[in-house]
Amino acid sequence: MTYEHTPVLLKEVIEYLDPSPGQNFVDATLGGGGYTAAILENNQPGGKVLAVDLDKDALENFKFQISNFKELVLHHGNFAQIDKIVEGHKFSNISGIVADLGLSSYELQHRGMSFQTDQPLDMRFNLEGQHIDAKFILNNYDEQRLEKIFKEFGEEKFSKQIARQIIGLRAKSIGLSHTTDLYQAIVDALPKPFKHKADDSARRIFQALRIEVNHELENLKEFLPKAFDLLNPQGRLVVVSFHSLEDRIVKQFFVALSKGCVCPPEFPQCVCGKNPQGKILTKKPIVPSATELKRNSRSRPAKLRAIIKI
Ligand SMILES: C[S@@+](CC[C@H](N)C(=O)[O-])C[C@H]1O[C@@H](n2cnc3c(N)ncnc32)[C@H](O)[C@@H]1O
Repeated sequence: MTYEHTPVLLKEVIEYLDPSPGQNFVDATLGGGGYTAAILENNQPGGKVLAVDLDKDALENFKFQISNFKELVLHHGNFAQIDKIVEGHKFSNISGIVADLGLSSYELQHRGMSFQTDQPLDMRFNLEGQHIDAKFILNNYDEQRLEKIFKEFGEEKFSKQIARQIIGLRAKSIGLSHTTDLYQAIVDALPKPFKHKADDSARRIFQALRIEVNHELENLKEFLPKAFDLLNPQGRLVVVSFHSLEDRIVKQFFVALSKGCVCPPEFPQCVCGKNPQGKILTKKPIVPSATELKRNSRSRPAKLRAIIKI
């Protein structure tokens, strides 16, 4: 097995994490291990990395690549439980945490997450301990629920028509089992003048299903406050996101930490007395350079945001 993934915004992630010898870091999304390897190049001697991934294939691949590294702890689990994971490994004194959201190139190609390769409709990051996959959702959820998923997580204009098409196929006992079945259902559902834009709709529908299958937004919302709490003073939290729904969550969380005050805006002055807990390091999100985009077009939607604990 080769677990292919080209790290995105690697130089920038390291710049914002700013690792130095003896410091400990958490990589919440190991993937191909690009960030973990780069942190380990900078925090030796004495620094450790705890690297987490929901996908066992990612961990197996990295174990194989880096079998001699005693400063590395690998953990199969969900970053939504980062507090328990850190506690379980007695990992402390944390100078930085990074999460690179979304999926690796390996998962895109092997888990039915892309309409460009014909694969069973799975979409799970975690093949163990999670049973609901994309096929189950498409063949069991009712029309309103499917429409809601497509609308909320894919922001797809033709969510209603696509949900109706899927239910119509179900009524004819035509189940959806492969990515090509879903792609065809999307093409058939689109009004004629929009059929030539089927790939754009498919991209949004596939994203929506992946978010639903993996509870991606809930996981992120759980992860952020736990991760920030775990940091040392002056510790850094760096998040790379790949679509506006994730980026909005990260941005709002960072802004709230940097403001402190939680009084309603109509209050003439602060009565809550809360102080800022963090300082945002990226006024605007950092995006891939022209050189990176040329080398890796998959990096295009990436946005990096970083905050330092005060
Ligand atoms: C974009 S890749 C990370 C790539 C990595 N930064 C690198 O340099 O190779 C995202 C990884 O996050 C993992 N992942 C997604 N959701 C997760 C979660 N809730 N907890 C832990 N890992 C998760 C995926 O399985 C995938 O391997």
